[in-house]
Amino acid sequence: MNQTFGHFEDSSREYVITRPDTPLPWLNYLGQDDFFGLCTNCAGGYTFWRDAKLRRLTRYRYNNIPMDLGGRYLYLRDGDTLWNPMWKPCRTSLDRYECRHGLGYTRITSEKNGLAVEVLFFIPPGETAEVWQVTVRNQSGGAKSVQLFSFVEFCLFEALNDMTNYQRTYSIGEVEVEGSAIYHKTEFRERRNHYAMFACTRKVDGFDTSRDAFVGVHNGLHDPKAVLAGACTNSLAHGWNPVGAHQLNLNLEAGAEESFAFVLAYVDQGTDEKFEAPGILNKNRGRALVKKYAAPGAVTCALEKLRTFWDGLLGALSVQTPEPNLNRMVNTWNQYQCMTTFNLSRSASLFETGIGRGMGFRDSNQDLLGFVHMIPSRARQRILDIAGTQLCDGACYHQYQPLTKKGNAEIGGDFYDDHLWLILSTCAYIKETGDQSILEAVVGYADTPGSKETLLHHLETSIAYTLQKRGPHGLPLIGHADWNDCLNLNCFSTEPNESFQTAGDVDGSSAESVMIAGLFLYAARELSALYQAMNRPADCARLDAAYAEMLVTIEEQAWDGQWYRRAYDAAGNPIGSAECEEGQIFIESQAWCVLGGAGVENGRAAKAFESVHQHLFTPDGIILQQPPYATYHKELGEVSSYPPGYKENAGIFCHNNTWIHLGWCLLGDGDRALEYYLSICPPAKPVETYRCEPYVYAQMIAGRDAATPGEAKNSWLTGTAAWTLVAATQGILGICPGHDGLVIDPCIPRDWPGFTATRKFRGATYEITISNPRKHSKGIQSLVVDGKPISGNRIPIAPEGSTVRVTAEIQ
Ligand code: BGC
Ligand code: NOJ
Repeated sequence: MNQTFGHFEDSSREYVITRPDTPLPWLNYLGQDDFFGLCTNCAGGYTFWRDAKLRRLTRYRYNNIPMDLGGRYLYLRDGDTLWNPMWKPCRTSLDRYECRHGLGYTRITSEKNGLAVEVLFFIPPGETAEVWQVTVRNQSGGAKSVQLFSFVEFCLFEALNDMTNYQRTYSIGEVEVEGSAIYHKTEFRERRNHYAMFACTRKVDGFDTSRDAFVGVHNGLHDPKAVLAGACTNSLAHGWNPVGAHQLNLNLEAGAEESFAFVLAYVDQGTDEKFEAPGILNKNRGRALVKKYAAPGAVTCALEKLRTFWDGLLGALSVQTPEPNLNRMVNTWNQYQCMTTFNLSRSASLFETGIGRGMGFRDSNQDLLGFVHMIPSRARQRILDIAGTQLCDGACYHQYQPLTKKGNAEIGGDFYDDHLWLILSTCAYIKETGDQSILEAVVGYADTPGSKETLLHHLETSIAYTLQKRGPHGLPLIGHADWNDCLNLNCFSTEPNESFQTAGDVDGSSAESVMIAGLFLYAARELSALYQAMNRPADCARLDAAYAEMLVTIEEQAWDGQWYRRAYDAAGNPIGSAECEEGQIFIESQAWCVLGGAGVENGRAAKAFESVHQHLFTPDGIILQQPPYATYHKELGEVSSYPPGYKENAGIFCHNNTWIHLGWCLLGDGDRALEYYLSICPPAKPVETYRCEPYVYAQMIAGRDAATPGEAKNSWLTGTAAWTLVAATQGILGICPGHDGLVIDPCIPRDWPGFTATRKFRGATYEITISNPRKHSKGIQSLVVDGKPISGNRIPIAPEGSTVRVTAEIQ
């Protein structure tokens, strides 16, 4: 079914889209570390440096009609035919269209009336510039004279101001033009030391920088005045809306082709002189960039560098299993999405505007779990940045701006799970790298200027914070909410003008979260294991005691008979209990109690999971809770604001599905684990219903209570990416970094004969072959490392640079 709009090409690691009118715009990201572009299958989207709010290069109008309008546009004027190689914005029907979304690049090829155009968009590694390489080929059999126009609309850098404060922005726009390069220098005259440049590596035949001149006040992007007239006007923008447009007259003999590139760059002046003459921008860095990419072979070489970069990253983890969708997700697309969520958290996608949310405290800690094996040094820095937004009592800023790394309270706070995720990310980093020195790194508390505590201090503060913030049942207080942002038990909002995320007061409140209790178990056990690796038995014992005490509290206070309750509200009533009319059973508490180790000896873990299967599992994934809330409950908050079946109100929230996948692995049921894994796996979904990209996870699939069951939303920026990679590779395939070696503990479907995997770990490469001759799911019977049998299931750490051959058999 997915074939209708495109298909995977696994060998080139591309998703090939074969028609432009996809069910929703299908997005790709350009850029790998500092400079990013959102690029749809029609080249829609925008570009920014580091921070989609504060350093936006190009403008985007959200929720436009059509949905995806505005982006990297090229117009071709061929006789009477006006068309776009990326189809938008004119939408002239094409004779051929193909979009290949690859790792960090998008290549769109199209053809009209014998003219073939190929455009490759990417951001060369290390560069703060987007390169659009264009090749125009005359296949018509006769000579052709055509005009090509380029177009971008500049954003005046601060994206929120740019779209709201026209009384100012209409008077500040400034540009300069030199040869084929258009410089956007709004506010450079005063406090900005950066500018944007949109240049062409070929000589141009005209340009425009005024939107009114190029598009026209009464025209649209689909019929820009200058293109209709066949000539740019060489306009210089003074205020209003600066744009970058070039005109190229191309005369192509039959069979001839021309290649050139556009370069859209962000230039930071650094310590260079700002001006080369009074009021005139010092363009040296911009000029150098154009020269660099105008040189023959430069673009090919940069693209090669991008490929090498991804080959290196993906080389660290690859698997061959009997399940093709698992292979293509784990080997390529899931890891790729993990890089994106690591870079962008929840800031910029087609569902996040880049002007709202920044880096989430809990989100970024979780995103790191799927990224840490790729570039551990970046993960290290991220952990320290996140820790720096914690307050000295243990509370955290819920969000921070990537540019300033400063916490942002406007978007809410007092989420009493936030701090615990820092323990998970730090332990994952140390297990991956062995670098315990991070614990001694100095990170201050955000509310204590000059504080010089260590990261380990932050972890202990986090443990202490949960232990101290306890409610009447001895369970952790929930604060504004826990992982489920919408379970707002202290909000009681009756005012439509307030945000659920900021309303309400948690001081003195007594609502409690069972999920936080389970997460605490997990975090305390992780920290204890770390202390054990550090040979600090007294600290282990202290944490083990805190763990044991919380475990008793959970078993005594949170068991409902068939599953774990979810919470207690401010009045002490249970949530997620058979006693409730709606919201009787929730995913999160089953997942975290079980992952934290509850219910093992008393059989409750297995029972809770059977209840999940019975009440929550559907072919489209596991529903967050059942039954949905049919009406608004002010004592529950935002969760009951959504119509049944959507988002946190009984939607399929893919992120928390993955915790159940891990739970099935813990319980040893590999058949369920894979069945559940595939239920939310994008390439396995029917695309007409699912609608989002088939190659990346979405946050949410509408549940069976919704009017549109099976329909996905919020693709790309979701915690699903990291956790599903963890579930597949550490849960199902059971290749787990440990403090003193790689642990092999698969839990696979019984009919899998086995699988192979390559995993780089602490500088060595492990070639792993697992076989399953007795058709079981779990339990390693024999482990042979470089020809030597080893007892247990832990492979000792091998010397850096070595290749280790591992074979294991499931019992
Ligand atoms: C959404 C949540 C999200 C929160 C962030 C809510 O409206 O339902 O999924 O985490 O906003 O602020
Ligand atoms: C999305 C948010 O980014 C995440 O932090 C939250 O846990 C989930 N929604 C669930 O509400």
